[in-house]
Amino acid sequence: MVRRVKVCVVGAGRAGEVHVLNLSRRIPIAELVAIVDMDLGLAKQLSEKIGGVHCYQTLSEALKNEEIEAVFITTPTFTHCPLTIEAAEAGAHVFCEKPMALSLEEADKMISVTKKNNVKLQIGFMRRFDPEIRKVKTLIMEGLVGRIVLVKSLTRGPGLPPKWALDPKTGIGMIAEVSSHDFDTIRWFMGSEAKMVYAEADALINPDFKKEYPTYHDVYVSVIRFENNGIGVVDGGCPVGYGYDARIEVLGTEGLITVGDIRGGSLLVCKSDKKAITETFPSWRDRFREGYINEAESFLKAIIEDKEPEVTGEDGRKALEMVLAAIESIRTNKPVTLPLK
Ligand SMILES: NC(=O)c1ccc[n+]([C@@H]2O[C@H](COP(=O)([O-])OP(=O)(O)OC[C@H]3O[C@@H](n4cnc5c(N)ncnc54)[C@H](O)[C@@H]3O)[C@@H](O)[C@H]2O)c1
Repeated sequence: MVRRVKVCVVGAGRAGEVHVLNLSRRIPIAELVAIVDMDLGLAKQLSEKIGGVHCYQTLSEALKNEEIEAVFITTPTFTHCPLTIEAAEAGAHVFCEKPMALSLEEADKMISVTKKNNVKLQIGFMRRFDPEIRKVKTLIMEGLVGRIVLVKSLTRGPGLPPKWALDPKTGIGMIAEVSSHDFDTIRWFMGSEAKMVYAEADALINPDFKKEYPTYHDVYVSVIRFENNGIGVVDGGCPVGYGYDARIEVLGTEGLITVGDIRGGSLLVCKSDKKAITETFPSWRDRFREGYINEAESFLKAIIEDKEPEVTGEDGRKALEMVLAAIESIRTNKPVTLPLK
């Protein structure tokens, strides 16, 4: 008999839907028992897509009524810390989407409450579970391109994050929402901690958004200096009409590795006017389809086998610290030294 972990997903929005569909259809070691959303109608709609599970408006109700071993938190950033505390204190393991929290204080609370209650905490950096990106990490560890001196990672998307992400009271802006992944991947590949971050950002695509959200930015570049003196570059921007674009370049003393392609498949149409047509990835759901499945499976395996998750709360905190340093650098127009106070 396969041991299945009883799971509840909190948040039936964009990320919640991806996790619910994977947990219910594609991960044999998962048993999805409940969906929670403060908008109960949304939870029920999603539940219907998978043949029906119990739906609740709050995590507290779900934890009271169901035997839940693990909670997937796929709600807006400002809810991550209180929901993690609630789940951990009820003895449930926590998978929490990125960015981990609004502040380092919140991230620290999440790490300590999960440790205190002896439950696992994994942060949703699914790129670490993408087969090709994973392969790059292996090649780096094998020394294939020598010592890593520069890692560049870019993410551009066709849409805008939800409004809560742009409002400083509920989110930490586009660079956190879209590029937390890039900061995490660069740190992972570099195998070192950031010591300085400098960022440039502006509202160049939708300048009018600044009227409603004064800190709004939609094009940005961030330069990171690591303790091993390696350099990282994060480049991001949304919305770009052309598709979802995530590419990484790793420069070592003995070679170069690139991963990620603008093309969403191998389809290529060549016409007699000498023009070629191909397709891009429509969204992050398509580009990282396998990554989302693999990260959830890895988290559930860590529970079953009582192992440390592959992406820990400390990893989430380090990426958050780099993002917060970039935001501070945008605000002050100066390089910011880490660790942050
Ligand atoms: N890993 C990825 O690639 C990826 C992709 C998209 C989003 N995310 C992350 O997932 C999280 C959610 O983002 P989203 O785009 O899905 O947001 P969303 O706005 O589409 O969905 C959030 C849902 O949470 C519900 N909600 C809010 N507070 C709640 C609470 N206290 N209890 C129950 N339900 C609550 C809302 O009603 C909404 O349905 C964010 O942290 C985001 O950064 C990650």
